[in-house]
Amino acid sequence: MTPNGGANLTSSAFLRACRQEPGARVPVWFMRQAGRSLPEYKEVRGSGTILNAIQDPDRATEITLQPVRRYGVDAAILFSDIVTPVFASGFGIDITPGVGPTCEQPFRTEADLGRFRPLDPDADLWFQSETVRSLVAELKVPLIGFAGGPFTLACYLIEGKPSKNWTTVKALMVGQPDLWHKLCHKLADLAIDTLTNQVTNGASAVQLFDSWAGALRPEHYREFVFPHSQRILSAMAGLGVPRIHFGINTGELLPQITAAGADVVGVDWRTTLQDARERTGGTVALQGNLDPALLLAPAKSLEDEVRRVLADNNGHPGHIFNLGHGVLPEVDPDQLLRVVELVHREGKADGARE
Ligand code: CP3
Repeated sequence: MTPNGGANLTSSAFLRACRQEPGARVPVWFMRQAGRSLPEYKEVRGSGTILNAIQDPDRATEITLQPVRRYGVDAAILFSDIVTPVFASGFGIDITPGVGPTCEQPFRTEADLGRFRPLDPDADLWFQSETVRSLVAELKVPLIGFAGGPFTLACYLIEGKPSKNWTTVKALMVGQPDLWHKLCHKLADLAIDTLTNQVTNGASAVQLFDSWAGALRPEHYREFVFPHSQRILSAMAGLGVPRIHFGINTGELLPQITAAGADVVGVDWRTTLQDARERTGGTVALQGNLDPALLLAPAKSLEDEVRRVLADNNGHPGHIFNLGHGVLPEVDPDQLLRVVELVHREGKADGARE
């Protein structure tokens, strides 16, 4: 089988930037590029929960392709969710529209560890394998596979719903460290299984979304999260695809996020790319870091901010233009198109200019 309609993706702008190769133009894609900001998503999304759409390979394929067609982004991201493998393992979790991931019975005790079934890819992830294969046959740009990081998934499982401060999570983490580590070990197993399945079926890169890890102070991150993320990312090292490691509010954690085993590190808008390059030791590519709220600003202000991000990168090879977090549902798709066109026109990665 020739994947990607025969396209040679090794030299794509996205994969070249992941490898920090000079000379390619700056690639761009957006976290949450598929979804509610697109009218065509609303048309095919259907009325069930998003987990129904994710388990329907035809619909999931179409939704993944929509932003690639509309914007001409340099990478696609599989339409799925970080809770998909948790759901597939039989631990009761759902995604409530307008709320986010919810568990009727949150994770609280040792007995709850028994609620995870080990994943059998053929039985539990068949829809994911099928979606990835159909995407890879059609796409001319790399497909990014992803999984949730241990802290972010534990947040939803323990709290039972989205929360501002994750207080129950932190209380369990420091109060019952053994139980915390056992839970994170299970979540890392799920991440390894789902990422391996996505890459085996043709995904060209993986992103570990530990979106909320920035809620922790660095010492807590080191003790409670780092070992689990490192285990996931080391397990990916042998698969030969770039590993992107992302969280928001992680300015203080960037050295550890890098050390956990990333080839590309996600940066949010609170940290400049110049600072991020210092904090990551210049060893990894950077992905980011436009503030997603600015997509709601007038076109001229938005364009100024896009140019500022490009100038902050200063022509350095190894920049993947993205937002510091996901696209908000109320964003006008024309604004995203404007960003893609500007980055493609003006983004250069031909070596630092100073
Ligand atoms: O285009 C893409 O980026 C791929 C699809 C994707 C989804 N979720 C689809 C989705 C990705 C990469 C995710 C990851 C995800 N899910 C994260 C990590 C990224 C981040 O934003 O920090 C997190 C924390 C979740 C958990 C989650 N799932 C939340 C907070 C929500 C929003 C709830 C709401 O309704 O506001 C979801 C639901 C969800 N996942 C939607 C989409 C398109 C919207 C719901 C829908 O269409 O019904």
